[in-house]
Amino acid sequence: MPESAAALLEQIAAQVRACTACGLCEGRSNAVPGEGSASSLVAFVGEGPGGDEDQQGRPFVGRSGQLLRRTIRESGWQEEDVFICNVVKCRPPNNRDPLPEEISACSHYLHAQLAIVRPKLIVTLGRFSLNLLVGSQLKITEVMGRPINKGGLTFVPTLHPAAVLRNQNLLPDFQKHIRGALNLALKMHSAEQGAQP
Ligand code: URA
Ligand code: SF4
Repeated sequence: MPESAAALLEQIAAQVRACTACGLCEGRSNAVPGEGSASSLVAFVGEGPGGDEDQQGRPFVGRSGQLLRRTIRESGWQEEDVFICNVVKCRPPNNRDPLPEEISACSHYLHAQLAIVRPKLIVTLGRFSLNLLVGSQLKITEVMGRPINKGGLTFVPTLHPAAVLRNQNLLPDFQKHIRGALNLALKMHSAEQGAQP
């Protein structure tokens, strides 16, 4: 019998927790593999764990995470209906940017998670997931909120919630782009269901 998607996701999470493939393993309290249902319609991909995430071993549970999770709920979705994870799975010291070699060492876990969940749509939060998954030269402010098709996948780039916490003027755009992405995923899903014989 084929392994269930949930079991495959758990296998990856176990590998992440034991991983020592880059220097970020040295400072972590907990690795943060990601969480959510294996049949999520939408995946959210951030940058890397912060202090709260490192303490709890869960993604987006600090201030940025509360903003993200509230925005998802206010769009009419349950947090359990989405998959939430990061480009790097261990916290960079003092929340510095992840280094290119850390991203290269870690990104196969993210790709494996996305291949298992196969979300209808992937929201990239901030520039690291945008540049890794969609295009290395893209600037968020130039592409945010607009769906981009690449390699048979649909992406919607958005600002990182931490940027919105630093500048509240960005909040309406952030909310609009998350809501738009979730509505589009539902539309894609119903179109597909309608096309079934
Ligand atoms: N910022 C991120 O990019 N990811 C988290 O999980 C938390 C904060
Ligand atoms: Fe392994 Fe990724 Fe953690 Fe580096 S950041 S130790 S590659 S899980």
